[in-house]
Amino acid sequence: MSAPINKRLLACASLVREGARLADVGTDHGYLPIYLLSEGRIERAVLSDINRGPLAKAEENVREADLTTRVKLVLSDGARELDGEGITDYTVCGMGGELIAEIIDKAPHLKCEDLNLILQPMSKPEALRAYLYSNGFSIDRELFVTDEGKHYVCILAHYSGKNANISPEEAYFGKREFYETAPTESAEAYFRTKLESLTRVIVGKRRGGESIDLEEKLVRELKNRLNLKD
Ligand SMILES: C[S@@+](CC[C@H](N)C(=O)[O-])C[C@H]1O[C@@H](n2cnc3c(N)ncnc32)[C@H](O)[C@@H]1O
Repeated sequence: MSAPINKRLLACASLVREGARLADVGTDHGYLPIYLLSEGRIERAVLSDINRGPLAKAEENVREADLTTRVKLVLSDGARELDGEGITDYTVCGMGGELIAEIIDKAPHLKCEDLNLILQPMSKPEALRAYLYSNGFSIDRELFVTDEGKHYVCILAHYSGKNANISPEEAYFGKREFYETAPTESAEAYFRTKLESLTRVIVGKRRGGESIDLEEKLVRELKNRLNLKD
C-alpha cells in the first residue's frame, strides 16, 4: 500500500533527486520517503525522528508498504546521528524555520557541497533563509505550493561555502528571481496571503504607536511582485 501523500509533501518530494539515498529528518508518519520508495524514485531511505512514538508509526507504515528491506529507522536529534549513512539528499519538512536552522547548525556534516537539502518551513522562513545565507549555504530553488487552502514554500539548498548578504525582503520572501522565473498561482497566492497578514500587523502596530518601517518595506516588495499599485 502506498502512503497517503499530500500536495505539500509531493512538492518537497519533487525536489529530491532521482536515485537519491534519502534521509527524512523529523519523518513522523514517514509518508514522504515511503512515497518516493514506492514510486521507485529512490533506492533506499533513512527515516529519523527525535521521538520514539513517531518513529514507531513510521515503522508500521514502512511494514505495511512492504519496504522494510530498503529502510533504516534511526532515533536522532536532527541529523546528528545520520553521518556515515551515505546520504545524498536530506528532507527536513513540516517544522518551524528556526528549528530547521537549528537542526542544520547542529550537524556539521551537512556542510558538504554534494548534499541536497530540501527544507519546508511551516513558519519563520525568513529565519531559515537568513541562517542559510549567512552560514555558507546557497538556495537553488524555491517552490510554492497550495494544499487545502494553505500556502507553503519548499526550499532547495546546498552548501557552497560562500556567505551572501540578503535584504529583509529576500529573507522574508526569497530572492525575486525564483518567483519571476516561475510565477505560479501558488506563489501568487502565498504572497497575497502574506500581504493580507502584513496589512493587519501594520494596523495593529500603528494603533500601538510601534515602528512599521520593516512591514512597509515588505508590503512594497509584495505589491511590486504582485504588480499591484500603491
Ligand atoms: C509536524 S511533524 C512533520 C512530519 C513530516 N516531516 C511532514 O512534513 O509531514 C514534525 C516531526 O518532527 C519531529 N521533530 C521535532 N524536532 C525534531 C528534531 N530536533 N529532530 C528530529 N525530529 C524532530 C517530531 O517528533 C515530529 O514527528
